[in-house]
Amino acid sequence: MSALAAMSPRPKGVVVRSGKANGFIAGADIKEFTKIRSPEEGFTLVRAGQQVLDQLEALPMPSVAALHGFVLGGGLELAMACTYRVAADDGRLSLGLPEVMLGIHPGFGGTVRSVRLMGVRRALELMLKGKPVKGARALAVGLIDALVPPEDLGACAKQLLQRLPPPRTPPFVDKLLNLGPVRPFLARRIAAALRSKVARRHYPAPYALLDLWQRYGAAGPASYDAEARSISALMCSPTSRNLVRVFLLQDRLKALAGKTASSPACPHLHVIGAGVMGGDVAAWAALRGITVTLQDRTAALVAPALERAQAHFRRRLQDPAAAAAALARLRPDVDGVGVRNADVVFEAIVENAEAKRALYARLEPQMKPGAILATNTSSIEIETLAGQLADPARLVGIHFFNPVAQMQLVEIVSGAATSPATAQRALLFTRQLDKLPLPCRSAPGFVVNRILMPYINEATFALDGGVPIAVIDASGKGFGMPMGPLELADWVGLDVCLNVGQVLAQAFQRPVPPVLTRLVGEEKLGRKSGEGFYVWRDDKPLRHASAQAPPEDLEDRLILPMLNEAVAALREGVIGDADLLDAGVVFATGFAPFRGGPLQYARDRGIGEITRRLRELQQRYGERFRPDSHWDALR
Ligand code: NAI
Repeated sequence: MSALAAMSPRPKGVVVRSGKANGFIAGADIKEFTKIRSPEEGFTLVRAGQQVLDQLEALPMPSVAALHGFVLGGGLELAMACTYRVAADDGRLSLGLPEVMLGIHPGFGGTVRSVRLMGVRRALELMLKGKPVKGARALAVGLIDALVPPEDLGACAKQLLQRLPPPRTPPFVDKLLNLGPVRPFLARRIAAALRSKVARRHYPAPYALLDLWQRYGAAGPASYDAEARSISALMCSPTSRNLVRVFLLQDRLKALAGKTASSPACPHLHVIGAGVMGGDVAAWAALRGITVTLQDRTAALVAPALERAQAHFRRRLQDPAAAAAALARLRPDVDGVGVRNADVVFEAIVENAEAKRALYARLEPQMKPGAILATNTSSIEIETLAGQLADPARLVGIHFFNPVAQMQLVEIVSGAATSPATAQRALLFTRQLDKLPLPCRSAPGFVVNRILMPYINEATFALDGGVPIAVIDASGKGFGMPMGPLELADWVGLDVCLNVGQVLAQAFQRPVPPVLTRLVGEEKLGRKSGEGFYVWRDDKPLRHASAQAPPEDLEDRLILPMLNEAVAALREGVIGDADLLDAGVVFATGFAPFRGGPLQYARDRGIGEITRRLRELQQRYGERFRPDSHWDALR
C-alpha cells in the first residue's frame, strides 16, 4: 500500500479485483479461526487486518473494488474500504457479512464502514441476519455504486475513477438515527426483536454488534478498536468454537462421498410409493435435474404427489420454463416401467416388512445390473428386508427425514450384507441431491431417531408427573433445541413416534410412554390430525402459558438421556465416530448448534459431571438414566 502511495508519477486511481473464477473473496479461511488460542492473540491479528484496510482507505488516490461472484466477510470489508464498488451482474454475485453464523461479527472495520455506507438500518440488517444479498438488492441498499454486465466490469471501474462522482451516503433519516441520544432507543427496539429469536447467553454475537453501534455510532478510531476487541473475545467463546466446529463438520459430511464422479451417480431414479416421503423425494430429485419415474398402486395415488411437486417447483424456481422442465422430468409410472432403466430404485411404501419384501421380490429381477435398491424405512433393519434378495449387497437404507425439502440430513444405512460399492453409490446419490449423508450401520432406530426418542419419551413422563406442557417445551427450547419435545412429537406425528418408540423399547428394554399409546388409540396423531399433545390450527399449536417454575432437574431430564443414548450408539459402533454422530444429530434434529452436538456438549460440561448427574436422575426416576458403560472411554 505504501509503495502505491509513493509511486511516481502517482496513479490516478486503484482498481482492486480478483482473478479467481468463483468470486472476489469468499471470506476468511475458517480453519484458521480454530488456531487462535486467546483473545489477545486474536486482537493482534484482527488489528493487523484492520490496519491494511485503513491504509487502503487512506490512499491518496481514489480506489474502486471490481467485484464478481462471492464477496463475503472480509472480502466485502475490503471492498467497503475502497472509495467505490462496482459489481458484475453474473448471476452468481453474492455480497454479505455472514459472520454471525459463526458466532462472531465483522472484524476488519465492517461494523463501522457498513453503517457509514448504507445507514444503520440496512447495515445492521445485513450483519444481524448474516444473509448475503444479490446484485440488484446490493445496488438498492447502497452497497455498490454500479451493477454491470461482466464484460463491462473493468471499463466501468475505470470510468468511475475518471468521473469521481460523490461517494454514496446513507439516507438522511439514518443520519438522525445514528445520533448519540437516539441510538439507545433504536438499539433497545432491535434488541427486543433479537431476543424473540435468539438468547444472548446462547448467541452473543448479534448483541455484541448492536452494543458496538450503540456505544460508538460507527465513528472514530475507538469504534475500530472496540470492534477488534469484541470479535477477538467472541472468537474464543464456546458458541463461536462450536459453530465453527459444526460448519467444519458439515464440510466433512459433504466430503464423505469423495470427489463427485464425472458422470452423475443417478441419472434416473425410480420411486415406489407416492405418499408423504416418496412423493417429496421424487419431487426433490426432479428439482435437482434427475429424471424420475414415480409409481404407486393407482394413478389416483400418484396425482397428489404431482400436484404437490408442481406447487413446489413454482415456489422454488422463479422461471416458469425451469419449473415446467422440472415437472417434465417427473413422470407418473403406475406400471413400473421405469424400474428397468433406473440407477437407483427407491422404495417408500408403507412401513411393513412383509409388504416391502414382497415388493423387492418383484423388483429385483427387473432391475438393471449395477442399479441399487434403496429403502426409506425408518425403523425396520436392513437385514430383515434383505433376507430374500438374490443379491442383498445392493440393498441400502437411504433414510430421508420429513419434510424432505427442509431436512438436510439423510442417513445412509448399511446392513450386514450391503456392499461398500452400494453404500458409496448411495453417498454420491445423496450429494447429487445436495443433501448431507450420514453413513451408519443398521441398528434399531439407526442414529437420529434413536437419539431423539429419549427426549420425547422423557417429556411424556414429566407430563405424566404433572409438569405442564408449556413448562416442558420451554425447557427444551431454553436449552437451545429448535422445538420443545412435545411440540416436536406432534410435528413428527404421534403414530410415527409410537412406532419408533416400540422398536426401541423392544431392542433396548425401554418403556413405551403410555400417553403415546393412548393418544394414538384415540387417533390424536398430532399436527396432521389436528390434535395431539396440542390442539393445532393452521399448522400451529395453540399454546397455554404457565406461570409454574420448571423443576430444577427438568432440563437435564430432557437432554441427558439423548447424550446417554448417543454414547450407547457409539459403543455399539452404529456410527463411525463421535464427530459424525454430533454432525448427524445437529443437522437432523437442530440440536442446539452453539453447543456443537450432544457429545461436544458432554465434553464441554465434563464427562464426570454428566455421569454424576445421570446417576442422580437414575436414583430419582429409574433405570432409564443409568449411565452407559462407554462414558469412561470418552474421558
Ligand atoms: P405414506 O403412507 O404416506 O405413503 C406410502 C405410499 O405407498 C402410499 O401412497 C401407498 O399407496 C403406497 N404403496 C403401498 N404399498 C405399495 C406397493 N406395493 N406398491 C406401490 N405403492 C405402494 O407413507 P410415508 O409416510 O411416505 O412413509 C413411507 C416410508 O417412509 C415408510 O417406510 C416410512 O417408515 C418411511 N418414513 C416416513 C417418514 C414420515 O415422517 N412419514 C419419515 C422417514 C421415513
